[in-house]
Amino acid sequence: MDDRFFEREYNPYESDASLMESKSRHADFADISVNICGIAMKNPVMAASGTFGFGEEYAGLYDISRLGAVVTKGLTLERRCGNPPPRIYETPAGILNSIGLENPGVEGFIRWEWPRLCRSGIPVIANIDGDNANDYYRMARRLSELDGLAAIEANISCPNVEKGGMAFGQHPESAYEAIKAVREGTNLPVIAKLSPNVTDIRQIAEAAVNAGADAISLINTLQGMAIDIHKKKPVFHRTFAGLSGPAVKPVALRMVWEVFEAVRVPIIGMGGIASWQDAVEFMLAGASAVAVGTANFIDPFAPLKIISGLKKYLIGQGIRALNEIIGSAH
Ligand SMILES: Cc1cc2nc3c(=O)[nH]c(=O)nc-3n(C[C@H](O)[C@H](O)[C@H](O)COP(=O)(O)O)c2cc1C
Repeated sequence: MDDRFFEREYNPYESDASLMESKSRHADFADISVNICGIAMKNPVMAASGTFGFGEEYAGLYDISRLGAVVTKGLTLERRCGNPPPRIYETPAGILNSIGLENPGVEGFIRWEWPRLCRSGIPVIANIDGDNANDYYRMARRLSELDGLAAIEANISCPNVEKGGMAFGQHPESAYEAIKAVREGTNLPVIAKLSPNVTDIRQIAEAAVNAGADAISLINTLQGMAIDIHKKKPVFHRTFAGLSGPAVKPVALRMVWEVFEAVRVPIIGMGGIASWQDAVEFMLAGASAVAVGTANFIDPFAPLKIISGLKKYLIGQGIRALNEIIGSAH
């Protein structure tokens, strides 16, 4: 597919003469680089936490340095084995997952994954999950010792075990507490990853920014469940699980829109992004970058297709730089 195809797609009534004129005016160049709180990315497409492991499986398919950035699987202070199966269950427009944060722990990550990941040549963002504020602080501090880590993304969807298991990200006060702990533990950029399982996402985003978050990423999975009609029991051992994929996209887009109006830090948008058209919608709503999650399981090349689609979209629209469209639907 060449650029002209895309121009035709977006301007079906444009004459050939004006098409050629616009092409010569704008040439074949579009700058899709973005900078998120000091993280320089050659394109805005990152791999979402938990759907890309530590990059190794995908590295067998393509050069992962073609991505804008990689976010690691969620790390905890100690290693975790995760939940018993089933861990993933398909729904008509997405998946439910209950992985239970299987990961090698911060020390295991540093020892086994980081030496390879740090040579990828792109920004690597460590995603962390704490049981309490002190965990967040200790992990942020330890990871900050790594030479070359780009940022820390604090997943605040995890339960606060000291407050009865309610997720940190479900109340402004506990969201503030978790992000403050990360902020105190690091000088790296801090990205607060928000849970959509709240009434007003703007309040949580504001609390995270007040606690020192340099950027916001959203959304994590939406809480859902499935029931096995033969066993007459919930499918998952923990009853509830996280819904992701195309089903959540409209909700995620709405939340990016709301958070863009509420805070003045960059937003990393995710939730059901499977095509470059989805990515454009998120950027028009206010995302400065996007993360691809569940779509990796359907088509591991989805992030690369999104990168090239974004470029062609800009060229077709005669827009020189991706930055120009961020939030422009408001
Ligand atoms: C199997 C699976 C595992 C995930 N693990 C994590 C995780 O460890 N930490 C985290 O912050 N988000 C995790 N997520 C959430 C994704 O990063 C993303 O926020 C969410 O799935 C919405 O994007 P999507 O619809 O493109 O998948 C996980 C999602 C899936 C599907």
